Amino acid sequence: MEYDNDENTWRRPSTPKMDNSKCHPIPKRSTTVAVIVLGLAVLSCLLGYCVLSESLPYESKTLRLVIILFRHGARTPTHTYKSDPYKNYQWPDGLGSLTNTGKLQLYELGKKYRSYYANFIPEEYYEKDVYIRSSDASRCLMSAYTFLAGLYPPTERQMWHPEMSWQPIPVHSLPRQLDNVVAATKSCKLWSAMYNEVKAEVDAQPKFSELFDYLTKHTNQSMRSVLNVDFLYSSLLIQRETGLKLPEWTKNVFPNKMRLPFMLSLALLSYNETLQRLQVGPLLNEIKQNFDKSVSHENIDRSLYLYSGHDVNVVSLWRALGFQELLEPEYGASIALELHEEVEQDNFFVKAFYRNNTKIEVPMELKLTFCSDPCPYTEFKHHLEKLIPTDWEAECQNDV
Ligand SMILES: *[C@@H]1O[C@H](CO)[C@@H](O)[C@H](O)[C@H]1NC(C)=O
Ligand SMILES: *[C@@H]1O[C@H](CO)[C@@H](O)[C@H](O)[C@H]1NC(C)=O
Ligand SMILES: *[C@@H]1O[C@H](CO)[C@@H](O)[C@H](O)[C@H]1NC(C)=O
Repeated sequence: MEYDNDENTWRRPSTPKMDNSKCHPIPKRSTTVAVIVLGLAVLSCLLGYCVLSESLPYESKTLRLVIILFRHGARTPTHTYKSDPYKNYQWPDGLGSLTNTGKLQLYELGKKYRSYYANFIPEEYYEKDVYIRSSDASRCLMSAYTFLAGLYPPTERQMWHPEMSWQPIPVHSLPRQLDNVVAATKSCKLWSAMYNEVKAEVDAQPKFSELFDYLTKHTNQSMRSVLNVDFLYSSLLIQRETGLKLPEWTKNVFPNKMRLPFMLSLALLSYNETLQRLQVGPLLNEIKQNFDKSVSHENIDRSLYLYSGHDVNVVSLWRALGFQELLEPEYGASIALELHEEVEQDNFFVKAFYRNNTKIEVPMELKLTFCSDPCPYTEFKHHLEKLIPTDWEAECQNDV
């Protein structure tokens, strides 16, 4: 039997850690200089400089739990089209796979979150602290792994191989056909029927007919739906990023005229509240349960939940949080939800943030329209509950 009694081996520090090394390193060469520098350091620390230079000075004392959903990094195309000059292009690692750029993006994002939450997420990886779920798609799993490599480089104690500054961290996933939480690919009859209905309505909008005609003509295949445009848009985007010269005809429509139908296509999966219930309800349920366990102090160890998914998953959560604005999530775009506790008031509240891509230094705070500001957890929870099915299978009418 494995001895697994770690009850008393770890405690979260009760006060945020001050990383003194970041604040005025002291030169070793001369003691005189050292004394002066130290004096200045102490002085500036007294003046608040040390606190200001912290990466997360803001309300870190109230932070209790962070939940992050991100999109995978740069990938190769999943689709081609009939007249595609690059139909037979040999993409390294095949179609729909994470590229080296994509690996780096998520690694960078992990590092960004590490420094952003430096005072909150313990430096040393510890199983109790964090739980990671991913879509079962290889590019999402791999994105999760590189994110974790950036978030949790091994500490000295955790180094297990002299050449590898990396440690294994588990990433959980359900097979595609069973996953209604992260990728939301588990089949749901009612959802499919409704999705097809709203898609047909959008596809029939006269404003798109000219574009559809144009694309159908030039791709030499039927392009009569925003979903077709979605796949084409993504493929052209990747070809352009790869440095491939796009055909002349694309210049009239790509990216500008194709962007709206592309974003609409992503939004359709969670277009109205019924679709949201079926599409993101199970994820919202997990989010609620995670927050609940923290609020009730049932789980005080866990500080972080990570979800590694796709563009549509980011959009669905975005829409479920009440945002109507159409979104084009870039690679590594992420939504972060924070649970805060005001101990004196015995009050919990929620903050939401969006990072458009992996380069953003400071995430953009989102104003939750369904909630007061700051957003009390009770109000946040009330909103989630409206979108959480009590019996997902039954609501999906999967058994009829
Ligand atoms: C379009 O498709 C037809 C039949 O599939 C084919 O004969 C024709 O060569 C194609 N044209 C182009 C420009 O790819
Ligand atoms: C969402 O759209 C579907 C399909 O058109 C429709 O059946 C359903 O009633 C809509 N739900 C809401 C809340 O409008
Ligand atoms: C980031 O996303 C927000 C919300 O969609 C948008 O207002 C902002 O312009 C974006 N910033 C960049 C640099 O794309």
